[in-house]
Amino acid sequence: MAQLWGGRFTKETDQLVYNFNASISFDKKFYLQDIEGSRAHVKMLAAQGILTEAERDTILGGLDSILQDVENGTLKISDKYEDIHSFVEANLIDRVGDAGKKLHTGRSRNDQVALDMKLYTRDEIREIDGLLKKLLETLLTIMEENMETYMPGFTHLQKAQPTTLAHHFGAYFEMFKRDRQRMADILKRMNLCPLGSGALAGTTYALDRDLTAELLAFDGPTLNSMDSVADRDYLIELLSALSTVMMHLSRFCEEIILWNSNEYRFVEIDDAYSTGSSIMPQKKNPDIAELVRGKTGRVYGALISLLTTMKGIPLAYNKDMQEDKELTFDAIDTVKGCIALFTGMISTMSFRRDVMEKSAKNGFTNATDAADYLVNHGVPFRDAHGIVGRLVLYCIDKGISLDQMSLEEWKAVSPVFEEDIYEAISLKTCVEKRLTIGAPGMEAMKKVIELEKKYLEETGNL
Ligand code: ARG
Repeated sequence: MAQLWGGRFTKETDQLVYNFNASISFDKKFYLQDIEGSRAHVKMLAAQGILTEAERDTILGGLDSILQDVENGTLKISDKYEDIHSFVEANLIDRVGDAGKKLHTGRSRNDQVALDMKLYTRDEIREIDGLLKKLLETLLTIMEENMETYMPGFTHLQKAQPTTLAHHFGAYFEMFKRDRQRMADILKRMNLCPLGSGALAGTTYALDRDLTAELLAFDGPTLNSMDSVADRDYLIELLSALSTVMMHLSRFCEEIILWNSNEYRFVEIDDAYSTGSSIMPQKKNPDIAELVRGKTGRVYGALISLLTTMKGIPLAYNKDMQEDKELTFDAIDTVKGCIALFTGMISTMSFRRDVMEKSAKNGFTNATDAADYLVNHGVPFRDAHGIVGRLVLYCIDKGISLDQMSLEEWKAVSPVFEEDIYEAISLKTCVEKRLTIGAPGMEAMKKVIELEKKYLEETGNL
């Protein structure tokens, strides 16, 4: 047991209590951020005359050597320390002696942990944004290649109207684009520095909080020291945004699982992204898509856990808040893994264009267009709807599709139909006539793809 606070105690901490209380097993993840924060704090203390320049340099040297040794593996972050903050401080004192004991001047672990967690998540948000950007680039490439890959669009999982693969994937492009925007929003709002808030009520030292904020690339200091140590809103926002990313991935995975099935056969997941069965030799399973779908629950769980943890906590810091770490780390790692794997899976997946097109032809996806044909010839839409409905029923009865009817059969229900009905309900026409912005017609799609390309170019790394 190595603690920072033995002074007012007369007994050793019970070992079980120690283990229960300790956080080093997981907060060691942000050793880098803890050292970064300490470096800024020490520089500021010296700038304010609270430490001498010599003390500052000694401490900075010690912190550097700790960082180096942790990274090259010669210094293990051992569980004998209560948390990462104690580990760094104790090792600093071991290495540089008395100067090291001044590191914690004007600081509490409460503002320290608030800072470390912000620094850590800030880096992770940037990484997640980068992964989402790669996913968007992958989607856009597939979209560009598939503007004429016709497929059925569904509502209620019933074939509804024809569309294209580019259009279908374009829907997900918009979702993941919004996810990136959420990352940027969170980053903007959270980017205020809590360091210098002390335990809860600031400190009596003349700290320069603007300076530490600047050194750590924040937009400024937080404005209430109690809120600074008690705020976990940005984590809740992040977990909510990550849950939304997972919801999008999960919907996409569900579609891919369906499309990869023998019944659909729209796509084939690459062998490298599929798995086999231990008993059924013929099986090639979409396990990766299923796992991504499955892990969604775990990320939602993190959000609900943290909301619940925070809901009854009086101001300011309480130990309950230590529970924010494992679940946030797990959610971040899960989402990063899922985005990366998903991107790999769709970039290697093959599309069975013939099957998709055939499926769009069967199932009366052009029924709306047949009704529109009548409307364009002066029939009120509601009547047109009824006429085509009867034709569909007729076709179902005969086991044929609309385009397989003879002109006499069309005319038997409405004399308005002429030879050009076949052209009007061809798959290509049905799609290509949909030219309003956001629709699958080639010209509309091209415009959107141009806009999205520009968007990707303009949005660099967060
Ligand atoms: N391990 C603690 C956490 O994660 C660090 C802050 C501890 N502060 C304290 N007063 N016990 O929240």
